[in-house]
Amino acid sequence: MNIILVAAECAPWSKTGGLGDVAGALPKALARRGHRVMVVAPRYGNYPEPQDSGVRKVYKVDGQDVEVTYFQAYIDGVDFVFIDSHMFRHMEKNIYGGNRVDILKRMVLFCKAAIEVPWHVPCGGVCYGDGNLVFIANDWHTALLPVYLKAYYRDNGMMKYTRSVLVIHNIAHQGRGPLEDFSHVDLPPHYTDPFRLYDPIGGEHFNIFAAGLKTADRIVTVSHGYSWELKTSEGGWGLHEIINENGWKLRGIVNGIDTKDWNPELDVHLQSDGYVNYSLDTLQTGKPQCKAALQKELGLPVRDDLPLIGFIGRLDPQKGVDLIAEAVPWMMGQDVQLVMLGTGRPDLEQMLRQFECQHNDKIRGWVGFSVKTSHRITAGADILLMPSRFEPCGLNQLYAMKYGTIPVVHAVGGLRDTVQPFDPFNETGLGWTFRRAEANQLIHALGNCLLTYRQYKKSWEGLQTRGMMQDLSWDNAAQNYEEVLIAAKYQW
Ligand code: GLC
Repeated sequence: MNIILVAAECAPWSKTGGLGDVAGALPKALARRGHRVMVVAPRYGNYPEPQDSGVRKVYKVDGQDVEVTYFQAYIDGVDFVFIDSHMFRHMEKNIYGGNRVDILKRMVLFCKAAIEVPWHVPCGGVCYGDGNLVFIANDWHTALLPVYLKAYYRDNGMMKYTRSVLVIHNIAHQGRGPLEDFSHVDLPPHYTDPFRLYDPIGGEHFNIFAAGLKTADRIVTVSHGYSWELKTSEGGWGLHEIINENGWKLRGIVNGIDTKDWNPELDVHLQSDGYVNYSLDTLQTGKPQCKAALQKELGLPVRDDLPLIGFIGRLDPQKGVDLIAEAVPWMMGQDVQLVMLGTGRPDLEQMLRQFECQHNDKIRGWVGFSVKTSHRITAGADILLMPSRFEPCGLNQLYAMKYGTIPVVHAVGGLRDTVQPFDPFNETGLGWTFRRAEANQLIHALGNCLLTYRQYKKSWEGLQTRGMMQDLSWDNAAQNYEEVLIAAKYQW
């Protein structure tokens, strides 16, 4: 099959969150299964490998002609195509920056230019545009793609056999705006309806995700748990009715992880400054060494006897940072260390700095995003907190388990799917979970976790071993995606 994954970000070139990781890794796993696979993303900066393909096209955006140039590279069996235009260039610092209409126009250009890649850009001398083509669009940014595919092409008898799958990584961002925004997307007037959505908070408004979900041939979301939550009024963020109506085409597939990047045996960020690579066999010596190196790097007392707790993520109420904040006074009464890494809402960033000042011997609040530091925290910490209010899949808990770091999570979405609660009677499970996003529940779960860490060494090692032995690679997920793509293609 010819598969083209289209995403607003793609690691390692651009990444603000898990979407970038998925766009960088899932295509490679699909290619390993024998498909011809391409990724299309905007070119925000001057990336080293991709070369100018020589193909230039002009698209209309809000009545203006905008020229794009297609750049390309072939890496690990995947064709990467980057769309270059003055609208994307030099945006690497803030790829979703600008006002609502600017962002919308960028996505219009991106979707229009991406859909034509299989016809204009030869990869290895051959274009992708035969009948056996499926697009995988991701989140609201590319939810216009299924709509354009239908309105510009299929309705006119073109690309009749080309299909589209829309993946929901986060339903909270939808591309909402006033109804007038329809004028920017350049579609015939009878296409207004799919974009029209009413909800009690926003009233009647324009909604790109709504139109994409209605038009795509199949919908995937990034865990089973989240696929269920999306159908509820709490989890669907106003789109639950549309999701229910289209429930027959929805499937939950848990993300995998890049097992080359996120592997304690090979991790390049563990090869200097006192850190070491380790495996299950060397866990009991390697991990403490990483912990000591992390404590040293952060300027915390180097002590192996006390548990080091980590948090990595956007500083946003979605991630439950405020629950950690509420639990800090309790934590400070325990003999623990806490390190938090992330950027986001200025007030939460300020809070992190304040914690560090108040409890300088126990807390580090690292405001910023550093790939290296996130790897080092994953390796050096004993426990990873993820109290997210909602979490479609979550990747950090998967990375943590691969590194023998025990997750304590709010049991929602992908967190509930991937962290089976520890059962001390049968010595099963992978971490601790709590049912409601409340600080006292977090404290309760973390309390049990700390008790096990301190008093039940064998149980702790069992948790670590089970976590590290899991197959979290993309291979399983890729096989499931393949089934969805085949369904989109033939059962229609
Ligand atoms: C979004 C979700 C996260 C998921 C990621 C990749 O960032 O919030 O839960 O892991 O997408 O699918």
